Amino acid sequence: MEALLQKTGVVAVVVIDDAEKAVPVARALCAGGVPAIEVTLRTAAGLDAIARIAEHVPEASIGAGTVLSGEQVNQAIDAGSQFIVSPGCQPQVVEQAQAANCPVYPGVATATEAQAAWNMGLRILKFFPGGLAGGIPMLKALGSVFRDVKFMPTGGVNAANLGEYLAQPSVIACGGSWLTPASAIASGDYQTITDLAAEAVGIAQQTRNQD
Ligand code: 3PG
Repeated sequence: MEALLQKTGVVAVVVIDDAEKAVPVARALCAGGVPAIEVTLRTAAGLDAIARIAEHVPEASIGAGTVLSGEQVNQAIDAGSQFIVSPGCQPQVVEQAQAANCPVYPGVATATEAQAAWNMGLRILKFFPGGLAGGIPMLKALGSVFRDVKFMPTGGVNAANLGEYLAQPSVIACGGSWLTPASAIASGDYQTITDLAAEAVGIAQQTRNQD
């Protein structure tokens, strides 16, 4: 998973209301070059969507987002999740995922939270909500202290600022929902999703090739 995050630089955060749309959305993202897909559990369709993608879109690396409890970790893994993402950092979520040998990326927004996560053995952390928690200046400050940690900024990332985030040495990848607009999912406009994914991959490649 770490290698995939580093390679692609982008994780699609998907909020889906209709599980029937999960497979075409995942295929559209993969077609655009974004196989790392985080389906959030904040809708009732989330778990079903994960299960369908796990079964029908083998080229995707499917994970669960907005995972709030240890119980949800188990449900997400049972549905086929290959990684777990959480908005905050709580021991029960991290420990449950670690016990199942499943990569887990809890959200941190402060040095205290990053230090707690570091002491749980984690070296890849979601930085959330990235834009509101201080954006790139905060990433620079955290990165200068937690030198063996890679961050995944999420929240407020889009095509306009993706390159700037990925140019930070402490950033492994960025997450965001901008690749899968609710309107495109609702109307079945999967080409738009593929185009947005391809645009993001292009930005990521351009940024990383300059390094
Ligand atoms: C998340 O679940 O990580 C966030 O909702 C993503 O934030 P964004 O919608 O600003 O990309």
